[in-house]
Amino acid sequence: MPVGPVRGRLIAFEGIDGCGKSTQAALAAASFGAALTFEPGGTPLGAALRPLALGTAQVDPVARAEALLMMADRAQHVADVIEPALATGRWVVTDRFGASTLAYQGHGRGLDLGILELLNRWATAGVAPDLNVLIDLPVVDALARRHQRVADGFESLDTEFHQRVAAGFRSQAASDPEHWLVVDGRSGPDEVAAAVAAGVAERLGAPGQLGDDR
Ligand code: TYD
Repeated sequence: MPVGPVRGRLIAFEGIDGCGKSTQAALAAASFGAALTFEPGGTPLGAALRPLALGTAQVDPVARAEALLMMADRAQHVADVIEPALATGRWVVTDRFGASTLAYQGHGRGLDLGILELLNRWATAGVAPDLNVLIDLPVVDALARRHQRVADGFESLDTEFHQRVAAGFRSQAASDPEHWLVVDGRSGPDEVAAAVAAGVAERLGAPGQLGDDR
């Protein structure tokens, strides 16, 4: 019987603005030989949606519209980028995925978590990360880092909002430890990258490793 390629693994990097996850996602993708992608904006449709989802002076989506824009971005991202790569056996690293909507629009904005989980499952056609990596950094440290760059719509929201988002990521990790690796984001980029690499290898093995269970 013909056997197709072994399916690739999906790893999502998550965390509050300024936690360092984009740097870590790029380092991890390079070290695993994985495809690197991101949300919102990882497809041409997503690039058009991103400024709408993040809000501008002219466009200020209400929370439900914001959530649905993130879902539209995710649906296209899974269909055009993530699923085709996984199907050929490629590993994929994404800078943000469904957990960001639960943290920002759910815990942050107060939308119903059960509905957002359902919408995530529908938007992704059931494609879920094999592992979420939470780069965990206290909000005060992230704020200090972010003061060094120009804020987007979310970054300019108040500290309490970001505290709720941070708590939202931590509670998702705590309630599903099998699918979450929590890494302390306070040390330097190299130490964080080493902790991520060790944690991913322990959970998923190495890409293309013989004898793993993929
Ligand atoms: P991102 O590009 O990761 O920002 P940065 O690299 O500056 O940290 O994400 C942009 C913003 O979008 C970020 O503030 C989080 C927000 N966001 C949501 O609110 N919900 C979502 O589902 C996603 C994917 C992102």
